Amino acid sequence: MRRVEFFDTTLRDGEQQPGLNLNREEKLKIAKQLDRLGVDIIEAGFPASNDADFTSVQQIARAVQNSTVTGLSRLVKSDIDTTWEALKESRNPRIHLFIATSDVHIKHKLNMTQEQVIEESVEAVRYAKERFSVVQWSAEDACRTDWGFLTKIMTEVIKAGVDVINLPDTVGYTSPSEIKAMFQFLKENVEGAENITLSSHCHDDLGMAVANSLAAVEGGADQVECTINGIGERAGNASLEEIAVALHIREDYYQVKQNLHLPEIKRTSSLVSKLTGNVVPGNKAIVGSNAFAHESGIHQDGVLKESTTYEIITPELVGVETNKLVLGKLSGKHAFRNKVLELGFDPPDEELKRVFKAFKQLANKKKDISDDDIFALLAADKVEA
Ligand code: KIV
Ligand code: ZN
Repeated sequence: MRRVEFFDTTLRDGEQQPGLNLNREEKLKIAKQLDRLGVDIIEAGFPASNDADFTSVQQIARAVQNSTVTGLSRLVKSDIDTTWEALKESRNPRIHLFIATSDVHIKHKLNMTQEQVIEESVEAVRYAKERFSVVQWSAEDACRTDWGFLTKIMTEVIKAGVDVINLPDTVGYTSPSEIKAMFQFLKENVEGAENITLSSHCHDDLGMAVANSLAAVEGGADQVECTINGIGERAGNASLEEIAVALHIREDYYQVKQNLHLPEIKRTSSLVSKLTGNVVPGNKAIVGSNAFAHESGIHQDGVLKESTTYEIITPELVGVETNKLVLGKLSGKHAFRNKVLELGFDPPDEELKRVFKAFKQLANKKKDISDDDIFALLAADKVEA
């Protein structure tokens, strides 16, 4: 089975989320936790963009034990030199070069020709290759780029010695079947593509970043770029935890392995949420507070009989202690009895029926039923512990 590498860009693309600002200590804490989680590559920042990023990338490169650390860079030599200064002491110096390749970007943003984009890319890859062990080059806005041009430019950067080519869906525009076809096409038609790593990098503007990343893997991507909790520009990036757990739970389907230590997922998500102030929605897959909570009577009854009836992921797999049976107006007697037992009571059936009725009346008026509420109901019925 081939292995997919996780490239985490929480500290670079993730930090581009409007209003988000992490200081050096916070970035270092996150990087150390990403290392514990087992991500293959940490993109720690954009060293040439400002002094704080330079220092932070340098510090992370020195501190991290297992992950490879990389930094983003434009194609200009001064950026590449600065990135080298920041990363030269790391175990496996790696640079991430990027330039846009779509017509709309080349014309309106870069004001260049396609030939100039190829020329500058080739020159930058050659220059970076003289210094770094691993050179990654990204075709920004690849998913809105003509496949013929992508084929041409990729062939040239491969000849120049690139190790990894990343094909971002910069504006979250593509669809799963389209991105899968794109990866398949480029893998088959670009000369030398079989000797390099192909990477995906999806944004969530249409809510498909994770689905698109998984489809890219199906199409042949060996690296996925993502962020913790899906933070990032606009609607954010593909979330690491969702891709990782999907690949794990559906290993039978995707047929790929990964190096992540999944029980570190919840802790990593909570740390990023706390340090960024970015609240994780309750219904967020994998890490939301409701991801392992059941409220309806039918579901609670099913889970109590056999958890796999309504849970495809065990909470422990991602570092969550246990699932939750939330008591509310839809809860059934089975879950209610469970809670009563958990609180140290074991009333006979008749008493339990009465208290359950009182509980239902209360749940119709009150949204959150606490343990204290249940205690009060038991006490009102004079149930003895
Ligand atoms: O979304 C994007 O295209 C990027 C590149 C710089 C890789 O973040
Ligand atoms: Zn991006």
